[in-house]
Amino acid sequence: MSDQVIIFDTTLRDGEQALSASLSFKEKMRIAKALEQLGVDVMEVGFPISSRGDFESVQMIAREIRNSTVCGLARAMEKDIDAAYEALSVSDNYRIHCFIATSDVHVKDKLRKDFDSVVDMAVKAIRYARNRAPDVEFSCEDAGRTPIDHLCRIVEAAIDAGAGTINIPDTVGYTLPFEFGGIIEQLFDRVPNIDKARISVHCHNDLGMATANSISAVAKGARQIECTVNGIGERAGNCSMEEVVMAIKTRNRILDLHTGINCTEITRTSQLVSQLCNMPIAPNKAIVGANAFSHSSGIHQDGVLKNRDTYEIITPESVGLKENTMNLTARSGRHIIAHRLEALGYPEGSYDLDNVYKRFKDLADVKGQVFDYDLEALLFFSNLRE
Ligand code: KIV
Ligand code: ZN
Repeated sequence: MSDQVIIFDTTLRDGEQALSASLSFKEKMRIAKALEQLGVDVMEVGFPISSRGDFESVQMIAREIRNSTVCGLARAMEKDIDAAYEALSVSDNYRIHCFIATSDVHVKDKLRKDFDSVVDMAVKAIRYARNRAPDVEFSCEDAGRTPIDHLCRIVEAAIDAGAGTINIPDTVGYTLPFEFGGIIEQLFDRVPNIDKARISVHCHNDLGMATANSISAVAKGARQIECTVNGIGERAGNCSMEEVVMAIKTRNRILDLHTGINCTEITRTSQLVSQLCNMPIAPNKAIVGANAFSHSSGIHQDGVLKNRDTYEIITPESVGLKENTMNLTARSGRHIIAHRLEALGYPEGSYDLDNVYKRFKDLADVKGQVFDYDLEALLFFSNLRE
């Protein structure tokens, strides 16, 4: 089995469908180009049957993108597959992604069908799509809540029908990491033709488990992760691209896996998506939050100044940032103040550190965060007094 995990980005489909205002064609194209630069293997860029606008943007992106496979979503229905085919076939490198729900609650109450008819529809749709696309993916919507016997049965039938990728979504973010990994493990144990397809996972974040579930799945043999930049998506969002990619890279020794992502593009892409989608990033968000590479307590700052490995498991440079940052607060020690002043052009010895540090503490107690211009003012006043 390959040790590469395929990164399937769905920012422009599952991510975009959750925005309060749609992106313009131009904005979608900017994001698609950034994703190509980032090195995503597959980008899912829309649901062509859903609207004229979606159809046209999928077609426009399929025309332009050369280095990633461009994918469009379709229900397990001929008219959806026809629309996806028409939009995507302007490219030489495209994938049709068809899906149908497989959990009891979706089959009975949403589709109002029985499971046998669902298997039948899936098989017909995959065969139909195989005649129109070089690459077909099939998803069992709400797989996380699908009885395992049903899941094994439909996965086997979908592989026989010609799907090259089988996606196992945790559509409502319900499973826990050991459980979701267990589902993937059971598929590998019980589905006889499983090695004829790539197993993919698509985890939502309703319980905050999307990244952990995706990692648990690749540890059990899945080789594609579906994710979005900054984790945007329905409700609590999708698995975050930057989190899974950096987890795979940082814990490479234990996972023995890699992705093809150019990690130094992560910060730039994250900021572009945040701005265009009007979705601010929480400061404490892993990898791309403003505080992700920022140290606040005196003990941490002192440790990082001596050896960055003390409190940094990832270098800021590896995700495209210039450097880490130190928040100067009442918890900061003398060492970081002297270090900061040195960077501002005031070498230690050229001022009275005890005096400046005392003034710094008083100011930090009142102000919270102290900035470079505050430090320079403190230095100026401490020199005036002497
Ligand atoms: O969450 C989900 O199940 C989906 C499918 C369409 C893959 O987005
Ligand atoms: Zn989804």
